[in-house]
Parts: sequence; C-alpha cells; structure tokens
Amino acid sequence: MSESKVLVGVIGGSGLYHLDNLTFVETVNPETPWGFPSSPITISRLSSGTLIAFLARHGKGHTITPSAVPSRANIAALKSLGARAILAFSAVGSLREEIAPGDFCLPSQIIDRTKGIRVSSFFTGGIVAHASFADPFSKQLSAWLADKVAEALKIEGRDIKLHTDKTIVCMEGPQFSTRAESIMYRQWGGDLINMSVLPEAKLAREAELGYALIATATDYDSWRPSEAGVTAADVFKTLRANASSSRLVAAHVLEELAKGVADGKLDSILDEEKGAMTFSLM
Ligand code: ADE
Repeated sequence: MSESKVLVGVIGGSGLYHLDNLTFVETVNPETPWGFPSSPITISRLSSGTLIAFLARHGKGHTITPSAVPSRANIAALKSLGARAILAFSAVGSLREEIAPGDFCLPSQIIDRTKGIRVSSFFTGGIVAHASFADPFSKQLSAWLADKVAEALKIEGRDIKLHTDKTIVCMEGPQFSTRAESIMYRQWGGDLINMSVLPEAKLAREAELGYALIATATDYDSWRPSEAGVTAADVFKTLRANASSSRLVAAHVLEELAKGVADGKLDSILDEEKGAMTFSLM
C-alpha cells in the first residue's frame, strides 16, 4: 500500500461510483475490526500531488441497500488511510417547492428516523461514549464547501441552485415514504430526505473526522397533492441528467481543497473535529 496518507475521503452515493480527472494511484481494500468497506477504495492523486480516497457507499455495482451499508467499516477504513475529513455525496428527495430536482444542497441538521434500527456507534460491548452531535455536519467545512460548490456551479453555467442550512430527514427505507409521512416530515421542519446520511455522520464524529454532505435533489418525494409519488426511476433519471454537474462539483471542490492545503489555509477546517471525543468516554 502507498506510503503517503490520503487527505480526505470521498464517499459517493447513488449515481457517483467513481471520480473523473484524477491520477489513479492504487486500489486498496482494508479489513477493519468491523469488516470490509462497501467497496474497494480507490486512491488517486490530485494535480498538486495530494492523495484522496474514494469509496462507493452502495458498492461499485450498487448492490448494498441503505440499511446494510457497512458504515463502521467505511469510516474506519478511510480513517486508517489517513483521511482527516469526509466529503459525502448523496441523492436526496426535496420536501420544499423551492428545492428543485437537480439543485445542490448542503444540509446543516438531521432528523433521525433510523434510530434503534441501525448500529450507529463504534462504542459498544461495555465501552460507553456520548459524542456531541448538536451540529451533525462540520460547520467550517460546510461553509468552505458552500463557496466552492457555488463556484463550481457558476463554471458549469447551468441554472442550478445551491441551498444551504437545510434539515435532512434520514429514513430507513428501502421503500420511499408514504404521502402522510412525507407531509409529516415537512411539518417537522424537514427540507430534504435520504436513506444514507446516518449512521455515517455519527460515526465520522466518533472518529473525530470532519464530515459534510453534498446532496443533489432528485425528486419531490411524495408530498405534492396532485403529483405522482417518487419512484426509483425518477431518482435515476435526474441523477443521469445531472451526472456531469456532480462530477464537475466534485472535481472543482477537490482541486480547491488541494490548493487550500498547499496554501496552509485549510488545516483548521480539516481538523475541525479533532478532539471532539475528549471527555466523552464514560
Ligand atoms: N433519495 C433520493 N430521493 C429520496 C426520497 N424521496 N426519499 C428517500 N431517499 C431518497
């Protein structure tokens, strides 16, 4: 395995199974105490020489359902490669009229509808720890990303909006929500919905890794009274139509990240969660 450490881990969601314009270095498949990650991890070099690691959350052939994603292995594997922060991508449903399919979003809050169903902690079997999770996404990292994603969308030149400071509902799935649930999530203050941000974000915090989600809205879920409810075909149709935008956003963000690191401007952002677990072990 390569001697150098990777700087960040990128987790690709539905429709993002690899990254473009990077120099391939190697593929690794580290076994962790929680098993193997969802897919072998591709390590690539950016133009500055910085290494990044890419992992497909649902496997390369999209064979892993959201409830079965081995999130503990994924986060542990990326941390073992040296990643200081994680940029996660995900397709999401929109619970708001103003967030149109194709738009990008950087959420700041989560409502957990997977609690008690998914294993969401590294601390089990007699070790008790309580991570602070009031702000589930790394604030400085998300603010930096907001600028960079906006720049990328400007370069892309299409009229794609970026929404920040939104609340995402993480549901269990694999079925989509009923109309009643979709309406209820709006009443709760949800703006977006997916099946994948948890337990990933919780585990990243426990691993003291920065974590931010770059979400692409693919559908209006099932709350609009006179519209058909969401189907997987709707999600994949939007993802296909927006694949080039997602790749451009990923490429621009990563190049800017490398530049920021070279300038010495990103250290505090990448290490935002370092020490997050201090005094959290009981
Ligand atoms: N992922 C993409 N669209 C979704 C939706 N409407 N509900 C849950 N997860 C999704």
